[in-house]
Amino acid sequence: MAQKVVLAYSGGLDTSVIIRWLMDHDFEVVALTIDLGNQPALDEIQARALKIGAVKARVEDARNLFVDHFIWPALKANAVYEGQYPLATALGRPLIAKLLVDVAREEGAMAVAHGCTGKGNDQVRFDVSVGALAPDLRVIAPVREWELKTRDEEISYAQRHGIPVPVTRKSPFSVDENLWGRSIEAGVLEDPWAEPPEEVYRWTKAVAATPADPAYVEITFERGVPVALDGVPLDGVTLIERLTRLAGDHGVGRIDHLENRLVGIKSREVYEAPAAVVLLQAHKALEQMTLSKEQLRMKERVAQEYADLVYNGLWFTAHHQNLAAYTSSTQRHVSGTVRVRLHRGAAAVAGRKSEESLYNLNLATYDAGDTFDQRSAIGFIHIWGLPVRVQAQTQLLKQPGGPLHLVGPEI
Ligand code: ARG
Repeated sequence: MAQKVVLAYSGGLDTSVIIRWLMDHDFEVVALTIDLGNQPALDEIQARALKIGAVKARVEDARNLFVDHFIWPALKANAVYEGQYPLATALGRPLIAKLLVDVAREEGAMAVAHGCTGKGNDQVRFDVSVGALAPDLRVIAPVREWELKTRDEEISYAQRHGIPVPVTRKSPFSVDENLWGRSIEAGVLEDPWAEPPEEVYRWTKAVAATPADPAYVEITFERGVPVALDGVPLDGVTLIERLTRLAGDHGVGRIDHLENRLVGIKSREVYEAPAAVVLLQAHKALEQMTLSKEQLRMKERVAQEYADLVYNGLWFTAHHQNLAAYTSSTQRHVSGTVRVRLHRGAAAVAGRKSEESLYNLNLATYDAGDTFDQRSAIGFIHIWGLPVRVQAQTQLLKQPGGPLHLVGPEI
C-alpha cells in the first residue's frame, strides 16, 4: 500500500514536479499550502495540486501565528542576520515545519516532504525542526535526490508529464515571500558585480519613481509590539501589510546582501522588506529612549545570537527559549510612539516619545531648568580617572619613546 506523505506545497515549479515524483515513488501525497502572507490565488494553488495528482490539498492560514510567535519576537530582539537580512524566510520555516508535523499526525502520514535543494539553509531549518518535533517522521527532499539538474530539465519534465507550471523559461529567479519580506536569488543575481535588475523588485519602487514629497508615519508600540499606525489601532497582519505598501511606495526596504549560508557557501541574496526595515528602525529608536545603557548593550549581543540561531534553524531549542525570555523581559517599558520619515528610498526616525522615557530634559538641557549638579562632576571625574592616573605614572610615561609610542619594536 502506498505510504502517505505531507508535502509543503507552494504551487511553484519545484513542488509541483515533486508531487508527481513522489507519486512515481509510490507515495500518496497530501499537499499542504501555508499562508504566511502575500500569498495570492490560494485556490488556484490548491486546484493545481489536485490536478497533478495529490489525494488532498489543504490550505492553512497561519498569518496570525506567524506574526505573534515569530515576527514580533524577532522584532523585540531586533534580529537581523549579518546586519542586513531581517530573516523573513528563516522565520517562516520552523512554523511551516510545525504545521507539516501537525497535519502529518492528522492524516496518519509516515513522512513529510519539502522542495528545498541540498545547498541552502531552508533544508536545514525544515529537517532540524521536524526532527525536533517528530523524530519518527521521515523527511523527504526530492530535489536533493533526483536527476533533474537544472530548471530547464524540470520544466521539460513538467511538460512531459502534463504538469501545469506557473513559470516560463524567462523567469530565472527563485523567490520566497511572506508577510515579513521577499527573498530573491539566482539568475543574474549570482554575479555579485551585477546590479539587481528592476524586475526582481515587486514591493518597492525605484527611487526615481518615488514621490518628491516625504511621507510621515507614526508607529505606536506597546511593550515592544507595534499596535497602531498614525494613531489607528491595527492587528499585526494589517499593520505590516499597510506599512509594506507605504514604505515600499517610497522605495524603502531594498537589501542587497552577500551572505554566509550555514552550509558554508557565500550567496548573493536580494531582499525586499519595507515593513521590517521601518519597524526595526522605529523599535530601536524607542528602545534607545526606554532602556538603560546596560540593557541596550546586552540586547545588542543577544540580537546577534538570536539572529544566528534563527538563521541556523535552531528555533525549537531551549537556547532559543532562554534568549526569547530575556528579550521579552526587556520589553516591559518599551511603549511609546516613533515618527518616521519615508523619502526617496530612505527611512529616518524624525521623533520619538514615551510615557516611560528615561530621557530627562532637566538633566540634558543647557538652558534654564538645568538640575544637573555640575560641581559634583569634579568628584566623579577624580574617582573615574584614578586607575588611569596610576597606570600612566607607573607604566605609560616610563616607556621608551613616551606615551604616544603605543606599538613599537619593543612590544
Ligand atoms: N538566503 C535566505 C535564507 O537563507 C533566503 C532563502 C530563500 N529562498 C529563495 N528562494 N530566495 O533565509
